[in-house]
Amino acid sequence: MRLDKYIAEAAQCTRSESREMIRAGRVSVNGAVCKRPDQQVSEVDEIGLDGQSRTHQDFVYIMLNKPEGVVSASSDRRDTTVVDLVRSAYPRRELFPAGRLDKTSTGFVLLTDDGAFAHDILAPRRHVPKTYRVTLDTPLTREMAEGFAAGVTLADGLELSPAQVTPLSADGLTVRVVLRQGVYHQIKRMFGVYGAGVNALHREAIGSVWLDDALAPGQWRELTAAEVAEIAVR
Ligand code: URA
Repeated sequence: MRLDKYIAEAAQCTRSESREMIRAGRVSVNGAVCKRPDQQVSEVDEIGLDGQSRTHQDFVYIMLNKPEGVVSASSDRRDTTVVDLVRSAYPRRELFPAGRLDKTSTGFVLLTDDGAFAHDILAPRRHVPKTYRVTLDTPLTREMAEGFAAGVTLADGLELSPAQVTPLSADGLTVRVVLRQGVYHQIKRMFGVYGAGVNALHREAIGSVWLDDALAPGQWRELTAAEVAEIAVR
C-alpha cells in the first residue's frame, strides 16, 4: 500500500496529516528517510515514525470490560455505547461490538472493525462458547441444571441448545453459565422458565479467552495476536 495510507492507519491520523509527517522527513522506510507519500510499502518493510518502528494493523480487536448502563452498539442517541468508551483512541476506525450484552449486564465485550472475524465468531455453526457469572434471586436447583443440560424450551416455544450451569457459591445464588448460542436475553429467559430472576450478569470469557482481571469497568486493552487466534480458531 501507499506509505501515506500505512502511516495514517498505524498512527491513527488523517491522510493529509500523514503526508505532512512524511514530507517533514519524520518517516523512514527500511532505515532511510522517505519523503514520498506515494512510496509503495508492504509488510516486509520496516517503517519508522520519529525514530520508532510503527507496525501497521489491518484490524483492531479490543477487550472491553463493559460497565452497567452502557449499550452494546456503535452509536446511540441517548445512551453511552461500548464504542464511545474507546472512540478517542481510535478516531478513524469503524468499530462495533462482536456480540452484545444487555444494558444492565457487565463484562467482556469484544470490539473490532474486522467484519469477517465478527461474522465468523457469531455464526451459529461456530458455537464459540461464552461464559457468564450470574447472580440469581433464587438458588440453583437440580431441575434447572438438568434442564439447561438437556436444552431449555423458552416460553415462546424456542428450543435452545444444551448449556452448562454450575454453582459458584454454597448458597447456589451465584452460578456460572456457558452458552454456545446467542439468543436475545437468553440467560434471563432460561432462568425465567424456572421462575428464577437474574440480579446480575457478567460475561467472563469468550471462547478460551477470559476477561483480564486488571480491567476495571470501562477499561479496555487490545487483544494479543494469540488471543485473537484462540477465539478465531478452536
Ligand atoms: N443473556 C442475557 O440474558 N443477557 C445478556 O446480556 C447476555 C446473555
